[in-house]
Amino acid sequence: MGKVVGRSATYEAGPNIALVKYWGVRDPTLVLPYNSSLSVTLGRFRTRTTVSFEPVLVRDEFTLNGAPIEGTPRDDVVRFLDRVRNLSHRSERARVRSSNNFPTASGLASSASGFAALAGAASAAAGLRPTPRALSQLARLGSGSASRSVFGGFVEWRAGSRADGADCYAAPIASADHWPELLDRVAMVRDAPVKTTRSALAMQSTVASSRGYAQRLADVPGRIARLERAIRDRDAETLFATTIEECDSFRSVCETTDPPLDYLTATSRSILAAVRAANDEAGRPVAAYTHDAGAHVHVFTLDGALSKLRKRLDRIAGVERWLTVRPGAGARRVGGPT
Ligand code: ADP
Ligand code: DP6
Repeated sequence: MGKVVGRSATYEAGPNIALVKYWGVRDPTLVLPYNSSLSVTLGRFRTRTTVSFEPVLVRDEFTLNGAPIEGTPRDDVVRFLDRVRNLSHRSERARVRSSNNFPTASGLASSASGFAALAGAASAAAGLRPTPRALSQLARLGSGSASRSVFGGFVEWRAGSRADGADCYAAPIASADHWPELLDRVAMVRDAPVKTTRSALAMQSTVASSRGYAQRLADVPGRIARLERAIRDRDAETLFATTIEECDSFRSVCETTDPPLDYLTATSRSILAAVRAANDEAGRPVAAYTHDAGAHVHVFTLDGALSKLRKRLDRIAGVERWLTVRPGAGARRVGGPT
């Protein structure tokens, strides 16, 4: 039976924003990071991916937002499908149709939602039934941050220490509805450049050249512990202060990479400054900024503080769109088997 059932499957997954960043791998093939990381899976944004294994196909086909894709993004999908074919002892080529309802390759983690959805859809279509942990380990091989998008809400990706990666996986630490007042105001920055280098590559030049990298690795475990406690206790001030500290550490190792990595635009920097000013004025942290490897900026705050904060943020020129986003669900199958 197994091989006939489930030739086609559709999955959805949301991207995630890291409050503690993954930046550097000790094993690039198995995508084993140097440090654990912690993120929030985002609602509202999503990838939807359908995979069908079809005996008539002579090569894997990949379309994204309706357009056929060739080159490196397709090669990455094919390599991922090869792993799934190996695991399921299949040889058929696949048709992969995917859509992102947010910008691809601009720092909003399309690779995270993209590979979490692909991992779910490809394994279901191949007749595999991975546990959530195994699915997170599979997704990790497509994109490290995708390991976290398998789960909803607040998620930690444990770096582990084993060479085979058996103890390297993501796990949920709190559900999406755990902290209803917490929100992420996302600035989609106008003229955000399309990334030409995947984060997975860029981070390796930081490991090789940034003099601050060793100190960052020493600091991260303390930040993860503080954030875990802050999330558990819904302690917003600690969450905001720690998130800013971590984002600044990430940016600093990017800036001291040779050649320097600068993902922000002038607009992004104005948003960081506005959040700092709001916190200074309040005399305590009422919001946090963070960004991944791109120009868009996430501003975390609580519902009660939003209207005052918006008076500052809405004045900033160069933001194409502000969106309020809440923690969202993990990777899930949509539609029945076909
Ligand atoms: P981002 O910040 O969007 O994650 P990256 O440059 O790190 O930017 O990753 C973008 C890459 O992720 C794309 O070039 C493509 O290879 C891959 N990707 C994005 N969306 C999908 C998708 N829906 N399915 C498969 N791969 C995807
Ligand atoms: C800065 O795992 O998304 O967003 O697979 O090349 O896209 P690619 O790398 P990815 O790198 C994430 C880097 C980060 C921090 C994070 O999400 O933890």
